[in-house]
Amino acid sequence: MKITVIGAGNVGATCAQRIAEGDLADVVLVDIVEGLPQGKALDMVESAPVMGHSRSIIGTNGYDETEGSDIVVMTAGLARKPGMSRDDLLKKNAEIVQGAISEAHSKSPDAIFVMVTNPLDVMCEVAYRVVGGDSCKVFGMAGVLDSARFRSFIAMELDVAMEDVQAMVLGGHGDTMVPLPRFSTVSGVSIVHLLPEDRIEALVDRTRKGGAEIVGLLKTGSAYYAPAASTYQMVESIVKDKKRILPAAARLSGQYGLTDQYLGVPVKLGASGVENILELPLSDDELAELKKSAEHVRVNVEALG
Ligand code: NAI
Ligand code: 2OP
Repeated sequence: MKITVIGAGNVGATCAQRIAEGDLADVVLVDIVEGLPQGKALDMVESAPVMGHSRSIIGTNGYDETEGSDIVVMTAGLARKPGMSRDDLLKKNAEIVQGAISEAHSKSPDAIFVMVTNPLDVMCEVAYRVVGGDSCKVFGMAGVLDSARFRSFIAMELDVAMEDVQAMVLGGHGDTMVPLPRFSTVSGVSIVHLLPEDRIEALVDRTRKGGAEIVGLLKTGSAYYAPAASTYQMVESIVKDKKRILPAAARLSGQYGLTDQYLGVPVKLGASGVENILELPLSDDELAELKKSAEHVRVNVEALG
């Protein structure tokens, strides 16, 4: 297996490190900044004897070395700064995504593309329009991250083991995301039976603002440990054909009453990418929230023209 990670910044480099150290695949790390991907790749190679893997990690400013990649992870772009919304990044990152995905696709026409660059759902559409063909091979990471944040907040609130908490966050990656308390559980018990309504609402609100909370603390960039871990989990499910059920930005074709647009929904993720989209039995209110979120994504896609 060969995986290209485009963008050797915080998310890209951390993701490349996890992929190599998890012994998932050989990695090619691409960035426009001269020396940056080469330096980070060499640094990771030099940690291989200590970490105990023999994965090849190559840093480059071009795409020749990416040829024949099985998976391309797209993290290149500008990150949020304090006061900046994900949507502020829209136009600049669309240009970056269009150029980079086009180059990567020309070298690896059969690759699966995992998008990370923000605004995530819109960038999935930009990439899909470059790659074309089967939309199950172009999708995005956000739901795993948003759910991981919700999971960690629930675990901290109830003082229980993080690993016993599952959560489901659907919708676009942004302020309109839709955390679903009814489908969020501690060892199978929905949190609606474990927490009062006002505490659930507080955790939902913190989840929606989870990205901004980290930006506010870091001041010079956005989150990357949890985003890289979440991307790794998706990549692992593809490489090992685990068929995990994870929330991901997938292109809908009638599910939830929505067509021809990307949105965070539960998917089955395996060797061929998105193998199935699951339709949860949402209440009228939950579905209305999901549609509101979809509308926000649709407006931004239209703004790009
Ligand atoms: P960063 O600024 O640390 O890294 C971005 C890298 O992209 C830089 O090294 C830059 O040189 C590179 N780059 C810019 N244009 C390029 C091009 N045309 N070709 C190749 N490389 C190029 O940013 P960070 O923190 O790694 O975030 C990356 C992106 O991921 C941002 O758009 C951020 O908003 C997004 N993000 C998305 C998340 C999600 O849940 N989907 C979570 C966290 C970040
Ligand atoms: C996050 O949620 C910035 O989208 C990124 O941390």
